[in-house]
Amino acid sequence: MMSEGYKKTDDICDDVCGQARSAFSMSRVKCFFRGFDLKAIILLFVVLPVCIFSMYLHGQKISYFLRPLWESPPKPFHEIPHYYDENVSMENLCKLHSWKIRESPRRVYDAILFSNEIDILTIRWNELYPYVTQFVLLESNSTFTGIPKKLHFAKNRDKFKFIEPRLTYGMIGGRFKKGENPFIEEAYQRVALDQLLKIAGIEDDDLLIMSDVDEIPSAHTINLLRWCDDIPPILHLQLRNYLYSFEFYTDNKSWRASVHRYETGKTRYAHYRQSDYLLSDAGWHCSFCFRLINEFIFKMKAYSHYDRVRFSHYLDPKRIQDVICKGADLFDMLPEEYTFKDIIGKMGPIPHSHSAVHLPAYILNNADKYKFLLPGNCIRSEEESG
Ligand SMILES: *[C@@H]1O[C@H](CO)[C@@H](O)[C@H](O)[C@H]1NC(C)=O
Ligand SMILES: *[C@@H]1O[C@H](CO)[C@@H](O)[C@H](O)[C@H]1NC(C)=O
Ligand SMILES: *[C@@H]1O[C@H](CO)[C@@H](O)[C@H](O)[C@H]1NC(C)=O
Repeated sequence: MMSEGYKKTDDICDDVCGQARSAFSMSRVKCFFRGFDLKAIILLFVVLPVCIFSMYLHGQKISYFLRPLWESPPKPFHEIPHYYDENVSMENLCKLHSWKIRESPRRVYDAILFSNEIDILTIRWNELYPYVTQFVLLESNSTFTGIPKKLHFAKNRDKFKFIEPRLTYGMIGGRFKKGENPFIEEAYQRVALDQLLKIAGIEDDDLLIMSDVDEIPSAHTINLLRWCDDIPPILHLQLRNYLYSFEFYTDNKSWRASVHRYETGKTRYAHYRQSDYLLSDAGWHCSFCFRLINEFIFKMKAYSHYDRVRFSHYLDPKRIQDVICKGADLFDMLPEEYTFKDIIGKMGPIPHSHSAVHLPAYILNNADKYKFLLPGNCIRSEEESG
């Protein structure tokens, strides 16, 4: 972009002096001095500010677009084929995966760090309810970015009576360190979650689900893993990525969620890559799937990548509503991909989907309450009514 700027001033000089640019001669030097005022003025007051301003606006996009040059894709996973139909016996399902069936299922722990995603939490716990022994939830009065937050779960706890007998709840005070990398507060909270799991009574070979609230394994996936022997000790789950609602399917590249066969002293709660095994088509990852515009604003501020909110107008409710309905990007960023083909293929808004097949059953059974997650319902209220 800079060089383009300079070229333009050269062209202007050529126009002014009417000379070929290749010939470097005295007359060109003269031209330089004759044109000096004009050229300096243009450079100082037009080209330079335009360059700096557009770097400021698009610097992030440029670096994202050039990602294939500075970052190579992560090592591919060993993808395990996944077999399922509701009318196939568990014995047969285990066999299809070359696993043996157990005499009794493993116990299952679902552990999460909670921020404010009450709706998604309701859907998650209803989906997993039949197969989870203990729901372990930790919340803090600080966001990862060190902003004080309400204890949203504690405030809404009466909405989750159905899991109360299986709930281990923990609260941890934030450290409120100004200007610290948000990943440090996040790591601190994950360590506390390890403690809470011990309090909840987790034992060796129990299954432990490590995932964000919005990464929801499908119930039948967890049922398979608790019934079959010989599953890998650590298995990542490939989830279908959605944005804002199930109307916007982006890809099936979500892999951060994982299921562990717990090993005392060894298993640590984490949200990064911990093994090479990935079970295909194992659930849903619905990012920014909020009911209220206010929740979008909160999440954008509380997010570990707060630096993405580069301009305050990003938090304007009208703009957010517009972005949601279009399936565009809240932070006006380019897709995080590793090849030019993928980046270009994914630029622009996400296409609308009209399918609500194979979604968490609880959404369809309570469609009135969760309409905002279904295709064709992108309009959000700003605040809770009534
Ligand atoms: C399920 O399997 C049973 C027995 O194998 C069969 O009778 C029944 O028709 C099947 N149901 C569906 C919906 O395929
Ligand atoms: C956060 O919680 C801790 C522990 O309960 C408490 O000491 C602290 O005052 C709280 N801070 C805020 C800002 O709510
Ligand atoms: C994941 O997406 C790729 C590319 O769209 C597709 O080829 C593949 O079949 C998908 N896998 C699953 C399990 O849906």
